[in-house]
Amino acid sequence: MDNGISPAKKAKVTNGSNPGASEKKTGYLKTQTDPENSVSLLFALPEKVGALAEVLKIFESHQVNLHHIESRPSKQSSSDFEFFVSCDNKTGGLKESLEAVKGIAKNFRLMSRQTGEYPSDDTEKTNTDSTKGVPWFPKKINELDRFANQILSYGSELDSDHPGFTDPVYRARRKELADIAFFYKHGQEIPRVKYTEEEIGTWRTIFNELTKLYKTHACTQFNHVFPLLQDNCGYNADNIPQLEDVSRFLQDCTGFRLRPVAGLLSSRDFLSGLAFRVFHSTQYIRHSSKPMYTPEPDVCHELLGHVPLFADPAFAQFSQEIGLASLGAPDEYIKKLATCYWFTVEFGLCKQGKDLKAYGAGLLSSFGELQYCLTDAAEKKTFDPAVTCDQEYPITSYQPLYFVADSFETAKEKMREYAKTIPRPFSVRYNPYTQSVEVIENKNQIINLTHAIKGDLTLLEDALSKIGGI
Ligand SMILES: [Fe+2]
Repeated sequence: MDNGISPAKKAKVTNGSNPGASEKKTGYLKTQTDPENSVSLLFALPEKVGALAEVLKIFESHQVNLHHIESRPSKQSSSDFEFFVSCDNKTGGLKESLEAVKGIAKNFRLMSRQTGEYPSDDTEKTNTDSTKGVPWFPKKINELDRFANQILSYGSELDSDHPGFTDPVYRARRKELADIAFFYKHGQEIPRVKYTEEEIGTWRTIFNELTKLYKTHACTQFNHVFPLLQDNCGYNADNIPQLEDVSRFLQDCTGFRLRPVAGLLSSRDFLSGLAFRVFHSTQYIRHSSKPMYTPEPDVCHELLGHVPLFADPAFAQFSQEIGLASLGAPDEYIKKLATCYWFTVEFGLCKQGKDLKAYGAGLLSSFGELQYCLTDAAEKKTFDPAVTCDQEYPITSYQPLYFVADSFETAKEKMREYAKTIPRPFSVRYNPYTQSVEVIENKNQIINLTHAIKGDLTLLEDALSKIGGI
């Protein structure tokens, strides 16, 4: 079904010695062209002829355009069907039609946000004075649950050129795994998936090809972590690691964690997860007919491309900086930050001694581009968020240009400096003790922050004196 939404910045593929081959790009990011113009809702209807038609008539009579509809059997009641509907909030009588749908549907839930608040009736409006008028953003880690299902497409929905488009078994599997994410809540264990022999075979092909290149093409940090994943999380050719095991490993290393996701999130929602050191990860695998190609992120891209770097403290901090910068940022800056994310977390190169190495997940999960990116065929520029953020890039071929970071530490400092230029009437700070984002907006909070910094300085002074540094 055409959902009327422009194609995502899609996944990079994992093969092709031919630069510019018909590979699509990666990144679990979707740049919504106009996020303010869409409202999504979920509701259940009894399984009877004409039930949906009655609802559609309501939208029609109020002249509300629908972007997307999906249905599936209800988890709550076997006699009901659940519907996910995305509609235009700028045309027709949306408010009246939602009220009318509420009157005849069960379990009605509004899932979209509008500037400054969550419009859902039963949702606390948490914006404070200084955040009024800016896009709502989560303040606590469990508030990521609120938008986890505000997805732009559901897992079973495939484009007609997707390798699994005509395979009903694959589509059913995609839906099964999307449902895991759809019902996931923060704090729960990520359900384990029993991958089939066919799925493991696909993983094996990719794993064996990519691991041939890592020692020579991947950055030091990646090569330091990869054996630890083999020892601790079951990374090997014959096993697809479980997200729960990997998430626990990452929490031990850097506090990063994985969260399953059912479909594409908006850039704003995806980036805000990073502010809490949460990475939204797919759990399904690409279609077995083309193991070295995927038009979207899959579990191979996440586990082989992204996960190893999230175990590195400096990279984790850098990723979190992008997330923190995105909170409450205007839409045009979300686009700029998503572009910085693209050229770093997805397609970044870094200097190591005299050499260049890859650290971007789109490269580390692509057998073809991992080789290509280090050749002279592609232009290289020094990473500078103020420049990088406006760089255009192709989404269906290898990158003609890569940005090079001197180190994750310097990249982090540059992102911090860049974040200061984003017009926001407040500063934010992540509090790891409460897993919450603090909006620094008054004198008392600044005093508390000063006390915390003083405590750290005292500790630093003490540690230096004990090792004879001062
Ligand atoms: Fe990615």
